[in-house]
Amino acid sequence: MAQTQHHFLLVTYPVQGHINPALEFSKRLIILGVKVTFTIPVSAYRKMIKAGRVPEGFNFVVFSDGFDDGFNSNTNDHMLFMTQMKRRGSETLKETILSNSAQNNGSTPITCLVYTPLLPWAAEVARGLNVPSALLWIQPASILRVYYYYFNGYDKLIRDCCNEPSWSIELPGLPSLKSRDLPSFCFPSNPYGFILDAVKEQLDMVASEEKPIIFVNSFDALEEEALKEIDDGKLSMIAIGPLVPRGDLVFEKSKDDDDIMEWMTTKPKGSIVYVAFGSLLVLTKKQKDAIAQGLLGSERPFLWVIRDEDANLKGEEGEENKEKLSCMEELEKLGLIVPWCSQLEVLSHPSLGCFVTHCGWNSTLESIVCGVPVVAFPHWNDQPMNAKLLADVWETGVRVAPNEDGAVEGEEIRKCIEMVMADDEKGIAMRNNANKWKDLASAAVKETGSSNTNLKSFLELI
Ligand code: UDX
Repeated sequence: MAQTQHHFLLVTYPVQGHINPALEFSKRLIILGVKVTFTIPVSAYRKMIKAGRVPEGFNFVVFSDGFDDGFNSNTNDHMLFMTQMKRRGSETLKETILSNSAQNNGSTPITCLVYTPLLPWAAEVARGLNVPSALLWIQPASILRVYYYYFNGYDKLIRDCCNEPSWSIELPGLPSLKSRDLPSFCFPSNPYGFILDAVKEQLDMVASEEKPIIFVNSFDALEEEALKEIDDGKLSMIAIGPLVPRGDLVFEKSKDDDDIMEWMTTKPKGSIVYVAFGSLLVLTKKQKDAIAQGLLGSERPFLWVIRDEDANLKGEEGEENKEKLSCMEELEKLGLIVPWCSQLEVLSHPSLGCFVTHCGWNSTLESIVCGVPVVAFPHWNDQPMNAKLLADVWETGVRVAPNEDGAVEGEEIRKCIEMVMADDEKGIAMRNNANKWKDLASAAVKETGSSNTNLKSFLELI
């Protein structure tokens, strides 16, 4: 089938960590001559419009998931949100597929429906209408492997390992893992049981397909072993990343971005410490004060993102978060604190020295694409595994060690920043590794690179 006849329908869970890679994936498809229709809830589409960042060349189908002002995890009911998304999202997908069917003159029939995790109902819609579907996995292949093994006989072993910090577990295709490296949703104490259930439902749905297809936001050289097929092809993955949005796709750009760039330009090459914890995480005031101590102790210029939502928590935590950070005056003399920034621009700036990151997968890939060494400061979900990969496998940074209460102290943060910024053998090796991975990431998405070739081969096959 000629590539121009392809028409992909995409649907994503409406948070930045899903939308950005899905948009970038769509952009790559469009470059290969594929027509793309992107279904997106009203709230996410409004954000794009507000920031003046609706990407060109896309056909958007906007639908209401019932939370048009956005979902607020502090005040809205999560189950209600998921149920409404499922009902209204399924209707929208069905209507879009039918209105593009061969019976409708002038339309291009949908040839593949691609969905991000937590939306197993999307595959159900596709199956009901005989359209091939594919999961776009937006975390590393290594995490998908852990989940696969968890749901295929290793659950007790993994749970036991979670409970015993000194144990290690060996799973095929993965480095030796300790409890601190495993996805937080596998822990017996995990309060988000519904997420583990949703991942299971998702993987069961994929496994029940005649030809299961999973695209992974990774690249062959980065996760060579983890990307290999599992259990004689029961699960195979197609690496098509890194799906790192270029500047024009990063929405929610703050109007202060030009000021940030100007400030960065006044600092020496490789001198700035950038601290950001993604789009969801909210730190306690105590933890933020410890970070402040670490930054003051390092005496280096810093750029720190503290999102406004930090003050929107309910109850005591929210009240506490509204309080100003201790040492605000000293902090303002040394660095900048902003509610949001254009992270990719910041990571690409020559004055940047290191990235203190929560290791969300997008931030992790962005650090690799930009060749920036990291202080890995993981919290939950896939972040501990990503931190393990960054520190021990790709060796582009160090990982903080929490104290007995699980908090990371200021002195530990300062020490880690110094290790990454140091001009000694270890510091130089981390920077060299970061540059090596940057080159490999760039090669993967070139015309003849592995990810582009993988995607083209897939288009020829379906
Ligand atoms: C969530 C999960 O927390 C994470 O573990 C999972 O891997 C993906 O989904 P999130 O916490 O938002 O994601 O982190 P991350 O995946 O790093 O995505 C954050 C995105 O926001 C990145 O693309 C980053 O560039 C962007 N960002 C963040 C900005 O553009 N500006 C900022 O100031 C902060």
